[in-house]
Amino acid sequence: MASRVDLYGRRYGYSSHNKKNKNKINKRKIKKRKKKYKIKNNIKIFIIIITIIIIIIIAIIMIKSKNNNKIENKDKNEVINNKQDDKLKQLNYINKKIDYFDYSKIDRYIDYMNNNIDLNLYDVIKEVNMDLDNEYYENSNEVQDTDSLLILVNKYNYLSKDYEPSDLENISSNYALPDMKLRKEAKESFEELSKKALKDNLKIIAMSSYRSYQYQVDLYNMYKNKDGVDIADRYSGRAGFSEHQTGLAVDVYNDKLSYTNFEDTKEFEWMQKNAYKYGFILRFPKDKEKYTGYIYESWHYRYVGKNVAKEIKESGYCLEEYIATRSK
Ligand code: DAL
Ligand code: ZN
Repeated sequence: MASRVDLYGRRYGYSSHNKKNKNKINKRKIKKRKKKYKIKNNIKIFIIIITIIIIIIIAIIMIKSKNNNKIENKDKNEVINNKQDDKLKQLNYINKKIDYFDYSKIDRYIDYMNNNIDLNLYDVIKEVNMDLDNEYYENSNEVQDTDSLLILVNKYNYLSKDYEPSDLENISSNYALPDMKLRKEAKESFEELSKKALKDNLKIIAMSSYRSYQYQVDLYNMYKNKDGVDIADRYSGRAGFSEHQTGLAVDVYNDKLSYTNFEDTKEFEWMQKNAYKYGFILRFPKDKEKYTGYIYESWHYRYVGKNVAKEIKESGYCLEEYIATRSK
């Protein structure tokens, strides 16, 4: 055995005992390293497994929520369909109950009902009867029954260029600005109305009445140039679409204030109480723009005859609503 002794008497050198020890130590080191390596590997595998599990969980949650949405949408559609089924049943019921249900418009009622799901069915029928399911001025109808006192001229119903009433007469200058014309019956009634108002010390003066197609072309263009189409359309009729061409409409003032302030006058109060007795109605009432297509005009009156004027006053309807809910 090759071993030496150092200065301090300690043995050193390559003894077989030492070699064995070294081998042991090396083996332990290798074992330790292997263990460390194994642990590292295990941790890696663990992390990979956890990541895969998380990915799977997220995927499951996403698929589930997608399915839930699908189910929710299906439920919603079912509710809407049920509502529509219910409404169709109601529509059928109303058909039997009201006499202004026009069966030739059934498809339009259903479309309008589906597009206005919260509207009650009486209003659906009334509004389709008024053509509210159409755009203004599009698919509009030329008025045929021009002699009728119930003639309806608005954004859905127009008069031909050449229409001029055959019985126009000048309103007496006691009650009108120069050259104001109305159809005979309307003119006579208007004169009676103004005469009675004058007895009550009130002046109700016609300041615009019958207007020809061409007059309306110029008037509308003037307003359009001043305010633009959108604003002008809310207070002025386009040529052919203004009921001033019927010879049954009249704008009034009290000979003092501008007609646009007519609402603030005693004459207006008087008209509110009495106009119907002479066959006149306030044609563009407050809060009826949806139906009439025009803003409130306290000065614009329309002759419809005494009976109808009374019915309209009592119903609170505007002319469009009244006509749309009359028996067919
Ligand atoms: N101002 C009414 C709407 C007309 O022009 O006929
Ligand atoms: Zn007017």
